[in-house]
Amino acid sequence: MKESRNRDRPILITGGCGFIGCNLADALAKRGEKVTVFDNLSRAGVRENAQWLKSRQGDLVSIVTGDIRDSVSVIKVVRGARGVFHLAAQVAVTGSLQDPIDDFEINARGTLNTLEAIRLHNPTAPIIFASTNKVYGRLVNDEQIAQVGRRHVPTVPQFASGVAENAPLDFYSPYGCSKGAADQYVRDYARVYALNAAVLRMSCIYGPRQFGTEDQGWIAHFMLRSILGEPLTIYGDGLQVRDALHVSDAVGAWLAVLDNIEAVRGRVFNLGGGQANAISLLELIDEISRIRGAVPSLLFDKWRPGDQPWYVSRIDALGSAVGWKPQIPLRQGLQSLLKWLEGRFAPVYAKELRV
Ligand SMILES: NC(=O)c1ccc[n+]([C@@H]2O[C@H](COP(=O)([O-])OP(=O)(O)OC[C@H]3O[C@@H](n4cnc5c(N)ncnc54)[C@H](O)[C@@H]3O)[C@@H](O)[C@H]2O)c1
Repeated sequence: MKESRNRDRPILITGGCGFIGCNLADALAKRGEKVTVFDNLSRAGVRENAQWLKSRQGDLVSIVTGDIRDSVSVIKVVRGARGVFHLAAQVAVTGSLQDPIDDFEINARGTLNTLEAIRLHNPTAPIIFASTNKVYGRLVNDEQIAQVGRRHVPTVPQFASGVAENAPLDFYSPYGCSKGAADQYVRDYARVYALNAAVLRMSCIYGPRQFGTEDQGWIAHFMLRSILGEPLTIYGDGLQVRDALHVSDAVGAWLAVLDNIEAVRGRVFNLGGGQANAISLLELIDEISRIRGAVPSLLFDKWRPGDQPWYVSRIDALGSAVGWKPQIPLRQGLQSLLKWLEGRFAPVYAKELRV
């Protein structure tokens, strides 16, 4: 009875028209939950995600246009929520370098607005925050990485199984600082105000409904350049490694954390594809060439600030806490994104491409 009353209240997703947010909203609605999506629609393409959500889920999803920097608007949507997934953000390191104050206001201040709205107006509601691997900084110096094939690997033993949550924090770039500050506020609000708060430090999430650009969403961006037949710029040597996680697996993790919030409140978890789903930039280009039968033309430019030469998450802590593990192998997941991008950006040719 209590549970059904609870489920009459919506889950609030800030940034819910974005790539991860709309996939989360769709999954929640599929399991019968009401969802309120709060987004200022500033990311190019996300208006389409809002339309997609409404067309699939109708009245289960309410879309509220608003800005996370506006504390009054945030209180209005937080007040009635059963729980909060906080994803609204300035998402690009490049954007943060161009306008660090804007980045701070959205990512740090926006998160504090959300936490304060919960603390003062809905203190039992769980909040789960979208943090980032960027809070760990560069992790390895040039002497601590070696080239194996077409990727970097760390030579230091502590990273042999990936990066665990106890790696030292070393915020790098304004984006790293603003998300890192927000990450620590969320963690601390669980401690000092006993909020049901948890943090997911995500690595590279990819999949359908991702409008990737050169600034953020590199897997989708690389694929899109290939579909459009346009050259692709690699910043650095292309041997950079990330562990990639398909968005449906990421959604599974977020829901598992929500469903187990009492057990994991106050905790921070790394969320990525782990060792099994690690891939370098050049390896992704090889994979796209293999699937599409055409090699994109490449340009090389200098490293961008804050870029990690290697990052792979350890995901066993999250796995043992909430019983989650990735289900979609990288190659299969990449095909699902490519198929979506081809359908969205090259409808004339999509039918001819067998992915
Ligand atoms: N995609 C990844 O690989 C990844 C990795 C680590 C962390 N993250 C974090 O996950 C979250 C979601 O990322 P995503 O890839 O879905 O990005 P996204 O850009 O698709 O989604 C972010 C959404 O926030 C909205 N937004 C931006 N500024 C806002 C504001 N001031 N007020 C309200 N809404 C605002 C945008 O319009 C967009 O819809 C972000 O917090 C991001 O930092 C993503």
